[in-house]
Amino acid sequence: MSDVLVTGADGMLGRAVVRALSSRCAVIGVDIPAFDIVDAAATLAAVRRASPHIIVNCAAYTDVDGAESNRDLAFQVNANGAGNVALAAHDIGALIVHMSTDYVFDGESSSPYAESDTPNPLNVYGESKLAGETAVAESGAEYLILRTAWLYGHGSPNFVETMLRLAGERDGLRVVDDQEGMPTSAADLATIIADLQSTGVRGLVNATNSGSCTWFSFARAILDLSGLSDVRVEPVRTEEFTRPAKRPRRSVLSLARLTESLGWEPRSWREALADYLMERQGG
Ligand SMILES: NC(=O)c1ccc[n+]([C@@H]2O[C@H](COP(=O)([O-])OP(=O)(O)OC[C@H]3O[C@@H](n4cnc5c(N)ncnc54)[C@H](OP(=O)(O)O)[C@@H]3O)[C@@H](O)[C@H]2O)c1
Repeated sequence: MSDVLVTGADGMLGRAVVRALSSRCAVIGVDIPAFDIVDAAATLAAVRRASPHIIVNCAAYTDVDGAESNRDLAFQVNANGAGNVALAAHDIGALIVHMSTDYVFDGESSSPYAESDTPNPLNVYGESKLAGETAVAESGAEYLILRTAWLYGHGSPNFVETMLRLAGERDGLRVVDDQEGMPTSAADLATIIADLQSTGVRGLVNATNSGSCTWFSFARAILDLSGLSDVRVEPVRTEEFTRPAKRPRRSVLSLARLTESLGWEPRSWREALADYLMERQGG
């Protein structure tokens, strides 16, 4: 019997979670096409076969702009699929740790969002993730839903890798300076997940690195910490950078519940970023 089943294990967070948990317990990582969370019967059968104590659901449709024109698929994976995994967890009496997002909020609040604040997603991706939260909460399974944000790591396209690639291709970059959020290392989040599941805290918990910044400040930090201070970055307004999906202006999450539950505060986004970049450069 395995201890933990990780869905979406080939994705950015899934890889980090498999890595972080492997030193602590037996882990099985699964991903599409062999394990498709949209297929309820196959999901239930596979979960029964694996019989884990915990399922960490990292499987998701994560293309925020793509979701605007692929609403059905986004909801199938992020809402129905999440529900299927949670129902399977309930069936075998396992805990489900499910991943959600700061994009369930509209970003209009001037103070950090607590778990109890009312969501109001601005885009299809956020709507589908909110529906997934509801499906998990109503499944009857013991659950922990973690809202995270602005993830970067190995294995999937992300802002850090995009900035480094563009810095090599262009003379200067233009980056939005009026959207604020919380950059989060997938590796740090995986450690949080590994520690949190054993604390007994359940329900909804915000989980990111500490501190916030704009995409522009994030880009500047990525380049400066990579020895690319000479690459120019121009701050631009959201209106100058048209994209299919609307984004929250200020999706800053309160980490009070997380910090109290863990007994330690996640380190700052800048410290985590510096580590990631050093590791990436083989340092
Ligand atoms: N990335 C972020 O900035 C961010 C921010 C906030 C919250 N989150 C949440 O964090 C979680 C992990 O995100 P991530 O960045 O690691 O995403 P990711 O890299 O896109 O990984 C998701 C994985 O799920 C797989 N998948 C897609 N549809 C599936 C299905 N029907 N059945 C099983 N697996 C399926 C994907 O496979 P394919 O690649 O083949 O589609 C991929 O391997 C998600 O719940 C996401 O919503 C992410």
